Amino acid sequence: MQESYEIIDLKPQASDFRKEVLEGLLSEHKSISPKFFYDRTGSELFEEITKLDEYYPTRAEMEILTDKASEIGKAIGEGVSLTELGSGNGKKSVLLAKALHNPKEAILVDISMDALKDAMKRLMAEISNIPAKAVCADYTAIDVMSSIKMAGKKAIVFLGSTIGNMEPHDQRSFIAGCRKVLSDGETFTIGADLKKNPEVIDRAYNDSKGITAMFNLNLIARINREFGTNIPPDAFRHYAFYNSKEGRVEMHLISTKEQSYDIGGTTVRFRDGESIHTENSYKFSISELEAMLREAGFSETNVWKDSRDLYALITAVA
Ligand SMILES: C[S@@+](CC[C@H](N)C(=O)[O-])C[C@H]1O[C@@H](n2cnc3c(N)ncnc32)[C@H](O)[C@@H]1O
Repeated sequence: MQESYEIIDLKPQASDFRKEVLEGLLSEHKSISPKFFYDRTGSELFEEITKLDEYYPTRAEMEILTDKASEIGKAIGEGVSLTELGSGNGKKSVLLAKALHNPKEAILVDISMDALKDAMKRLMAEISNIPAKAVCADYTAIDVMSSIKMAGKKAIVFLGSTIGNMEPHDQRSFIAGCRKVLSDGETFTIGADLKKNPEVIDRAYNDSKGITAMFNLNLIARINREFGTNIPPDAFRHYAFYNSKEGRVEMHLISTKEQSYDIGGTTVRFRDGESIHTENSYKFSISELEAMLREAGFSETNVWKDSRDLYALITAVA
């Protein structure tokens, strides 16, 4: 087991939570960015979600990473520095690092320092022969991608269908941003949830144990913790559905009554039934994903799907 690793803290501003949440709650259509789900409690709840019977994406992606490991390793190539953006618990980085031939280093990037430390512990325990680095950063912030030093041939991976949490325009510019830091022949690997029977999708976001509801409502608990407010647990309820016109799951917190709270010195009013939009999770077809990758400057794509065709992993060559 490796003893230590380099840790680079690019300080994804703690104060942003207060500023951005307040801005979102004061706008006409109230919203909170999904990146704020992942404090320690949120990361733990997400981990619980990934184990639920109804929540298929993690299982499907892990299946691909396990069953197709040697093909994926070959497509990514030898001697690369593997960088996972939004590495979460790090389990997938471990699988990928094991699939690669002679990797030079593994770099995990996450906005949550707690998640990052846990993931690094896992990586250190399971991969003993690769230097590893942890970068605490917001990968959507300007210049973050270019400031991460990657040794040798670069392989960027973006898993968990996190791309689906961005709006279509941002998905394109994010992929283009990743392309920009890659040289010709280097790879970008993306995992994305596919379009399918909406009932399967609906069930995944409305699990019978109510864990996804707790994950969503943790944003209210986080507001209470960070602003010192006292919003009661029944003030909002979880609401998630598949919007087939937009091709996305929408998660909302619905105000259960007319209410107002002092949040950071500002009074925020909620109408009865008013929504705080907390997440979109876009679903894709393979051709949509390939078109986006081509548009960003990737040519060759290698596509793998799980045995139920629920989910896809694509390695694209710059
Ligand atoms: C849905 S989880 C997926 C985790 C992992 N990639 C997987 O597939 O299991 C998203 C992860 O990305 C991180 N994350 C979300 N937005 C981020 C951002 N803007 N910058 C860096 N990390 C972010 C979260 O902290 C969380 O660990």
